[in-house]
Amino acid sequence: MPRHTAYLALAFLLAAVAPARSETGYDAWLRYAPLPADIVRSRYASLPRLVTLLGDSAVLRTARNELVRGMTAMLGAVPATTTGTGNSPTILLGTLDRIRATTRLIALPAQLKQDGFWIGSSSIGGRRTVIVAGQNDRGVLYGAFALLHRMALRKDVATLNGRHEPAAPLRWVNHWDNLDGTIERGYAGRSIFFESGRVVDDLTRVRDYGRLLASIGINGATINNVNANAIVITDAFIPQLVRVADALRPWGVKLSVSIDFSSPRRIGGLDTFDPLDSKVILFWRERVDALYHAIPDFGGFVLKADSEGRLGPSAYGRTHADAANVLARPLRNYGGVIFYRGFVYDHLMDWRNLKNDRARGAFDNFSALDGRFDDNAIVQIKYGPIDFQVREPASPLFGALRNTNQAIELQVTQEYLGQQRHVCFLVPMWKEILDFDMQARGSATPVREIVAGRAFGQPLGGFVAVANVGRDTNWLGHDLAMANLYGFGRLAWNPTVSAKDLASDWAQLTFGHDPQVVDTITSILLDSWPAYERYTGPLGAGTLTDIIGVHYGPGIESSERNGWGQWHRANGQGIGMDRTSSTGTGFTAQYAAPVAAKYESVSSTPDELLLFFHHVPYTHVLHSGKTVIQHIYDSHYQGAQDAAGFVARWRRLERLIDRERYLAVLAKLDYQAGHAIVWRDAVNSWFLWLSGIPDANGRAGRFPGRVEAESMTLERYSPAAVIPWETASAGQAVTCAVGGNCGARHRYRGEAGTFDVVVQYFDENDGAAKFTLSVGERQVDTWTADAQFGSASPNGHTATRRIVRGVRLVSGDDIRVDVTPSGTDTGALDYIEIVPSGS
Ligand code: GCU
Repeated sequence: MPRHTAYLALAFLLAAVAPARSETGYDAWLRYAPLPADIVRSRYASLPRLVTLLGDSAVLRTARNELVRGMTAMLGAVPATTTGTGNSPTILLGTLDRIRATTRLIALPAQLKQDGFWIGSSSIGGRRTVIVAGQNDRGVLYGAFALLHRMALRKDVATLNGRHEPAAPLRWVNHWDNLDGTIERGYAGRSIFFESGRVVDDLTRVRDYGRLLASIGINGATINNVNANAIVITDAFIPQLVRVADALRPWGVKLSVSIDFSSPRRIGGLDTFDPLDSKVILFWRERVDALYHAIPDFGGFVLKADSEGRLGPSAYGRTHADAANVLARPLRNYGGVIFYRGFVYDHLMDWRNLKNDRARGAFDNFSALDGRFDDNAIVQIKYGPIDFQVREPASPLFGALRNTNQAIELQVTQEYLGQQRHVCFLVPMWKEILDFDMQARGSATPVREIVAGRAFGQPLGGFVAVANVGRDTNWLGHDLAMANLYGFGRLAWNPTVSAKDLASDWAQLTFGHDPQVVDTITSILLDSWPAYERYTGPLGAGTLTDIIGVHYGPGIESSERNGWGQWHRANGQGIGMDRTSSTGTGFTAQYAAPVAAKYESVSSTPDELLLFFHHVPYTHVLHSGKTVIQHIYDSHYQGAQDAAGFVARWRRLERLIDRERYLAVLAKLDYQAGHAIVWRDAVNSWFLWLSGIPDANGRAGRFPGRVEAESMTLERYSPAAVIPWETASAGQAVTCAVGGNCGARHRYRGEAGTFDVVVQYFDENDGAAKFTLSVGERQVDTWTADAQFGSASPNGHTATRRIVRGVRLVSGDDIRVDVTPSGTDTGALDYIEIVPSGS
């Protein structure tokens, strides 16, 4: 059979065995939904239905196969494939060099940046040709994806004509997966890479993940936790890594691992890990040789050292540059790189010393080392000086390293930002940081230019995101969260694309083209970060979540009086960290003079960062005209209302998108709206208590229609204090001792009508208590509290709202909540609320 026909047969076969479309979210933005016939006719009639591949490699074959797969699905016919010349119109895939050698086409660009591609249409030998010329094989793959992306967006592919080059050479994802299959700060199931100390047997998901990554231009993946297990680089483990590298390679994604800096001692049998010791130097060289022997295109290492208890060069009085370079040197022999994390701070700082400041950590540790890192070492810097908070200024380290490669570290996994139970589209936040001008050189030096290596003419630069996808079918647990992964890849390629365009493209690719669907999803995404900020954290104060534990629900005092350094310094009179040079920690001086001056003064600090830089009284008047305390109250009410609005907006899509994802997202948004109220009430109650200043709008601390569980008629339920107190209404709940059922009853004395009954309870992870809501003898709802919020106690993480809609009530009705505890889950109940239906 001629090659041409063999490919055709294979393509038919692939199309035939492809599973029928079910909208589980697994395909993410690569659904390749069939295009309507009129669009195919009007827009793609002249697109050649033959794909010619020049050259041969795993990545090139992937490019060809993906193009066939996408065109088949979207255009409804399988394109033919060939490797030779002919007369039919064709899409020509190949590297720039190959295409130049074959066609002598003058219009080709002289050269392209690494991983870049050029697309053009031409007539070659009388044959209409759409050329996809990659700088390398990966560029060809990206070009193929670009064509498919354009088609999936229903745009003319000719609009792609021209050169396309990534902003930075290194575009990596990090994964904090442990070898036992758990994921640190992962919220979507277990690891797709590891289980029980080994790489998983079935690597289908890894391959499919590689495809998603390639489609957005990601070229590297670090698959294990930065809190690394040393064994990943042992001879015994390397064969496991080989399997993952093989699965990712066809997608142009290089494998890399996080390492433990004390490996020479831990696994190397040495009595030291001093980076200047010759035995240690030899150890690393030998490990790198072994890795590249097994995986010739291995990407390199990520290292977290001297941070949060991880061992590092300070053990021997050596610098971070010493540590990075001992790794960089052997890696350089193979084109590998070391990402050295700038996330270094002392987590045992004395909180009583007002001059101490965790935010200073990265700059204090690295700025003096500028220029001392080897050319293939990159300092990987979290976007803000603290730790992935909802609002931080850009890290001053970006402006301080001018002779050192840098990468920005973002977080797709929403550790502090709702853990994929809340929708929080992060592209607008990332863009604010990327666009921020560090003014590091007297001329404009936005972060995006610095991390691309351009601002200071560095050889390397990069974008990294902690992705932490898991085994949940839809990868991140929340269908809308995938917009963050998509957005990250697109920004790493081109950080100047607008957040709105990214949101809208993603919505179309993921949910289809109905204008109402696209507009609604785009606007929910764009409104989601501001909403999350409003109901969780005010004015850059830092996190008000429980920072000692799972970083999820409110736990306002947990930031204080410990060494972790996420202090907001709220007291009876005011709030905020004084980070000024004149009276505070001196952090502002880490910025270039114009930026430092802006943040040094209260009057020129933007409201949204005021409490990051200044300690002010609650009565301080913001640029907005409100006092700080009134801003706190109002923004929390506004944020909770925004979250409720997402539910209402989503409901309008009921018949416009598939049932599966409609219901899944609805459940998440419903939950989020409830948890936003938990946040609102916790934060407002706490500040009302601490400041003693009432809410001028009369809402904080007043809850019309609320009936506290402890004031209901209780059967076996007993009142219990909740810790922290602000996470339960009136600081108390009722709990049910294991070994029998409990009930709480309230006699309704209001007007007859239809109401929504809210049941506020705690969904602990130490059992699955069963709840029932009844009116008189009539059972109106029943549910099981079996969610996993990472806590076994009643608190801000587990506080959950159930809204039972449309309940008929007349005066004298008994409203009852009954619970059957399970395990040690005590079926804790906080309150019920009776509100007019639909309010
Ligand atoms: C955060 C996070 C840790 C993680 C650390 C890091 O502190 O909570 O789980 O290890 O960042 O980025 O190294």
